[in-house]
Amino acid sequence: MQHVAWDKSMSVGVEILDDDHRKLLDMFNRLLKAGIAEKDRASLSGLLRGLQEYTTVHFKREEALMEQQGYPGLDAHRAAHRYFIDEVHKLTLDDDDSNEMMLRIDLILLLKEWFIEHIQSVDKQYSPFMAEDAGTTARSTTAH
Ligand SMILES: [Fe+2]
Repeated sequence: MQHVAWDKSMSVGVEILDDDHRKLLDMFNRLLKAGIAEKDRASLSGLLRGLQEYTTVHFKREEALMEQQGYPGLDAHRAAHRYFIDEVHKLTLDDDDSNEMMLRIDLILLLKEWFIEHIQSVDKQYSPFMAEDAGTTARSTTAH
């Protein structure tokens, strides 16, 4: 589980969201690798904050696309995202407790498992509702 990376079986059929998922799993992997190697707290906190920020960016993008495509399960999906954001936020608050590193790594692993499970079971449910070109406008909009 520590080094699970994105693969095609996780595809939700929307390239920009697949790219986000790949990037977030890479960030999880980097964080776990740094944590297990007992890197200093500052770099771990930096990685954790990076994960937190990109998660927010990704969830907003995903929710906007679900809304745009009229996905009926949006509210429940939003609630799942909020749960994850809250859990990541709690982790970033634990920075001062120097004895908690192993616990934090365990929590990061659990969150990674949650995220993979979320892609495979919850995210995939919106795939049939996405138009073939879903996300392509979003991509050009964000590029401007
Ligand atoms: Fe999602």
